[in-house]
Amino acid sequence: MKRNVISTLFVGSLLLSSIYGNAQKATLEVDASKTITKIQPTMFGLFFEDINFAADGGLYAEMIKNRSFEFEKPLMGWEQPKSNRSSMNKESGMALPINIAANNTNFCRVEINNDKGYALINEGFRGMGVKKDAKYNLSLKAANPNGAIKKIIFQLIDKDQKVLGETSIVPKSTDWTNYTAQFTATQTEAKAKLKITFEGTGTIDLDMISLFPEDTWKNRKNGLRKDLVQLLYDVKPGFLRFPGGCIVEGRTLSDRYQWKKSVGNVEDRKTMMNRWNVEFNHKLTPDYFQSFGLGFFEYFQLSEDIGAEPLPILSCGMACQYNTGELAAMNELDPYVQDALDLIEFANGAVTTTWGKIRSDMGHPKPFNLKYIGVGNEQWGTDYIERYKVFEKAIKAKYPNIIIVSGSGPSPDGEHFDYAMKELKELNAELVDEHYYRSPQWFRENAGRYDNYDRKGPKIFAGEYAAQSVSGANPNNRNNWECAFSEAAFMTGLERNAEVVHLTSYAPLMAHEDAWQWTPDMIWFNNLQSYGSANYYVQQLFSTNKGTDLLTITQDGKALIGQNNLYASAVKDVNSKEIIVKLVNTAETASEVSIDLKGAKLGSKGSMITLVSTNLQDENTFAEPKKITPKQSEYKVTKGKQQLNLPAYSVTVLKLKTI
Ligand code: AHR
Repeated sequence: MKRNVISTLFVGSLLLSSIYGNAQKATLEVDASKTITKIQPTMFGLFFEDINFAADGGLYAEMIKNRSFEFEKPLMGWEQPKSNRSSMNKESGMALPINIAANNTNFCRVEINNDKGYALINEGFRGMGVKKDAKYNLSLKAANPNGAIKKIIFQLIDKDQKVLGETSIVPKSTDWTNYTAQFTATQTEAKAKLKITFEGTGTIDLDMISLFPEDTWKNRKNGLRKDLVQLLYDVKPGFLRFPGGCIVEGRTLSDRYQWKKSVGNVEDRKTMMNRWNVEFNHKLTPDYFQSFGLGFFEYFQLSEDIGAEPLPILSCGMACQYNTGELAAMNELDPYVQDALDLIEFANGAVTTTWGKIRSDMGHPKPFNLKYIGVGNEQWGTDYIERYKVFEKAIKAKYPNIIIVSGSGPSPDGEHFDYAMKELKELNAELVDEHYYRSPQWFRENAGRYDNYDRKGPKIFAGEYAAQSVSGANPNNRNNWECAFSEAAFMTGLERNAEVVHLTSYAPLMAHEDAWQWTPDMIWFNNLQSYGSANYYVQQLFSTNKGTDLLTITQDGKALIGQNNLYASAVKDVNSKEIIVKLVNTAETASEVSIDLKGAKLGSKGSMITLVSTNLQDENTFAEPKKITPKQSEYKVTKGKQQLNLPAYSVTVLKLKTI
């Protein structure tokens, strides 16, 4: 009999453990009586780079690829399906009927003979996403030298040539003239194309053929894709780093990102090849160019829109050391330094200054209130430190309050990293950018990385990080749940060290389903849809619950950095009057936790947000975009310690109201 009771109990506990896991009990102490440090408003931010079609073909809502015929192959993206077609040429600027923008010298000359079947078709960025009943704004420049072409007809078509919307213009002028028209799409289609046909016989010149949805973020004309900006906004990011990443550096110095070429009239911004176009043999994207329609003004404006501090990073005169490593000689650094000084004037200068006026003329007389500037991206070695010193001297001499971000190279350890950190510390660098693209295990094992960082040394900007499910820059990397919760475990360590860690951002931010080069990425999109990965929701949970004051949370007097697979951090929010505890359980079993809170009086209510999934390989997808998303529930405060069950593989945010 006794034996039966034991075996029944055993079976019962086995059953329970298969449901709840083998619960282990840990008592955690949170001390709310003492603020360790203030949490920086910039603690959790965003890293944006034009990689994976994130700008052209992504955030920048332009639907026409190669709108100004300035790609290396000027007709890339344009089809002329009939074999006995009329001729079409690109000409150099010399041949333009009038002198249009010097940076946009190509145009398209179409010769229509008696063949009525001629069409010019733009394929978009792997198609164009159009939505039923939505409006699309078309614009172009045309010159009709002999008045021979009577009408230009524009149609949105699907793969079967079915027309999904139609509009037209009458090109009245012999000179270059701007024309606009509007479509309403009759059907939703992810892979639409724009077909252009002509009435009349003769020659017509076309340029800057552009198509935007009317419905953009904040309804800005020719603006940004609304769904994508919304995802950024919903993170409530503390800062926006732009424009990268390696794109800052360029493969060579001449193709570095030059912000001055990205401001002013859109049509004057010179198109250039995107450095990610040919970076990976396994992921060549020959049609990847930068129109700079999303340029520095737009980045500043976007930062402002989403409530983020702008954080531009500039070339320091060193091309990407993974590519050519080309160097600007020390006595030729002036233009690079001047770019940095002028950028600060562009962002913050009075409208009477040269660059402040350009900002004002672009529609933003008020300063953007820039506080940070980055010198170089992922540079390493003595060449970097030498150049950094020159920038630092010049920037601080003119703008002593601007905080300079320096770099520590591509790895979070090793010879280059150690050298950079040593030198930057000696130079009293303010904020050092660290990058880590490592395994999920590395992230779990490094939750204590900053526990022993010198509190008097440079502050840290964890500027690029993401757990790699296979290996760094491997095309088979996935945004899976193991990566996401491992990042969360690591992020408790970032938060716990808010004294030294002031800014952090996941990288890269975005990827087009059909045109990416690098994975994993925080947000995935195609021409119609977008979704946040599990990693996105981890970022959002931390950012929207960052609180204002760091507290201690310990087990037996020690920080939680993986004991029994548990990780934790705690903050209070003086505005919402809450204690916020973040708990990550990376075990395959659930964990019982009780929280002993000292130094605060709790009300009766709280809430609990849980992000959980059962399998390490689970991920959000276009088919199941919300598979792993935060679920909020009420939490009933008990007298004494607070009891919690942390499911296996879970991230939990407990929010307790204080009175
Ligand atoms: O985020 C992708 C790339 O990774 C960045 O461009 C670069 O800085 C890093 O090597």
